[in-house]
Amino acid sequence: MVKYRISGTIETKLNPNFYYLRLRPEDKPITYSPSSTNAKPQPEEDNSVLEIYGKHSLKGQVKISGAKNSALAIMAGTLLCSEECRLTNVPQLVDIQRMGQILSAFGVKLQRQGEVLDLDTSNLHESNAPYELVSQLRASFFVIGAVLARLGTARIPLPGGCAIGARPVELHVRGLQTLGAHVEIEHGVVHAVVKGDRLKGAKIYLDYPSVGATETLMMAATLADGETIIDNAAQEPEVIDLANFCLAMGANIVGAGTKRIVINGVPKLHAVDYAIIPDRIEAGTFLVAGAITRSEITIAPVIPEHLIAAINKLQAIGVKVVSDTPDSLRVIPSYNLLGTDIETQPYPGFPTDMQAQFMALLTVSEGDSVVTETVFENRLRHVAELNRMGADIRVRGNNAIIRGVAHLSGAPVLATDLRASAALVIAGLAAEGKTIIQGLHHLDRGYDNLEGKLRQLGAKIQRTSGEVVQPVFTPTPYS
Ligand code: UD1
Repeated sequence: MVKYRISGTIETKLNPNFYYLRLRPEDKPITYSPSSTNAKPQPEEDNSVLEIYGKHSLKGQVKISGAKNSALAIMAGTLLCSEECRLTNVPQLVDIQRMGQILSAFGVKLQRQGEVLDLDTSNLHESNAPYELVSQLRASFFVIGAVLARLGTARIPLPGGCAIGARPVELHVRGLQTLGAHVEIEHGVVHAVVKGDRLKGAKIYLDYPSVGATETLMMAATLADGETIIDNAAQEPEVIDLANFCLAMGANIVGAGTKRIVINGVPKLHAVDYAIIPDRIEAGTFLVAGAITRSEITIAPVIPEHLIAAINKLQAIGVKVVSDTPDSLRVIPSYNLLGTDIETQPYPGFPTDMQAQFMALLTVSEGDSVVTETVFENRLRHVAELNRMGADIRVRGNNAIIRGVAHLSGAPVLATDLRASAALVIAGLAAEGKTIIQGLHHLDRGYDNLEGKLRQLGAKIQRTSGEVVQPVFTPTPYS
């Protein structure tokens, strides 16, 4: 059972009738079980809101947590070995907790203490993932490659769509078939079985450089018989992190981070102690928060190279970002923000996971900007919410046309997905008056204590457990 302790501050400065309590997992070890979220309300039922009083500048340094997307893939990767692995720099997120529950359903013993997660995968006895858990976390489907390689069979429910699009998994499935698995999809469940003793190395070409498919297939190929080549592979830093983790366990992988990954299968992998890389999306979110509030803030630890596309766009907007040390970045305020065009692309292009946050910044940048979303088909739902705050954005297909306004004004808004939540927080920091953000279960999936970190920088932001303040009507963003 996951235990929580009440910590945090009693905030009375902003509103004397209001107090703030943050729930954080206890510092003493906690274990996961498939039903451990029963210990607290399901996040979707949580109707707490964030209140932000905008127009306060930020100052100081913020610690960037471990990368969510790396941690999720690497947790799945631990299934490849039958010994104990220790992961460090694991962020404290609802998505990580959910992945822990799924691994626990397979028979993995997990114990977490702060940012350290121990996983004992020696007794993997189950190859079925429960639908209730997979449906809550799409990335949990990525366990299919590792479970199949390790146990010779895997039954994983199709994850279904999510807030940002349909997100099919046919690239994962086709790749596993190419590796010699027999795959059937029946009643919404993908059932894969290895023909013979082991998967067989093969040449795979991905029609699209899907992050998840690259990770699934790379994991499956580490224990396959012979050489696998994945062409048109995703080059995201999280793919490299997963490959480095597998290498540390004794895998033979070359080329992660390029379009061609070559994996020579090995019969067995061994235990490892591995640190997750810093979260480039959280880092980018703080850079944008600094830019929109015209504040000088430093973020660390970061790998600046992972943020090149975002830094490049900040520079086009007129915001300087400097690197004082190899693992930090400092944003230098500019009072003259200029509109620019952004198109999301697979890495090293501009990340779709930063699109919403940059859109918030462009709403108050002078002139016109066009943001084109090419990765997910339904990832402009934050437009309507930003317009509620006084932004001037029109949507045409997958383009958002933004006309910069002099200022935003605080309003009640609804978070529609994870990164949209961050965009609304960023907009709220710059808006005049009070912004109230509902739908925080999205934010908690992927940001480790965002409001605590912002408050430490001087933001006037607080979470209330109160009822929804007033109804929010979300008009369709498509005009
Ligand atoms: C990962 C990230 C997510 C990020 C995304 C793109 C994790 C846990 N999540 O998601 O934060 O926004 O990469 O950088 O790492 N597609 C198919 N068929 C498939 C697989 C994908 O058509 O079999 C499509 C998707 O619908 C989407 C596009 O490919 O339109 C990119 O998806 P993909 O790279 O697979 O994203 P995820 O791995 O799900």
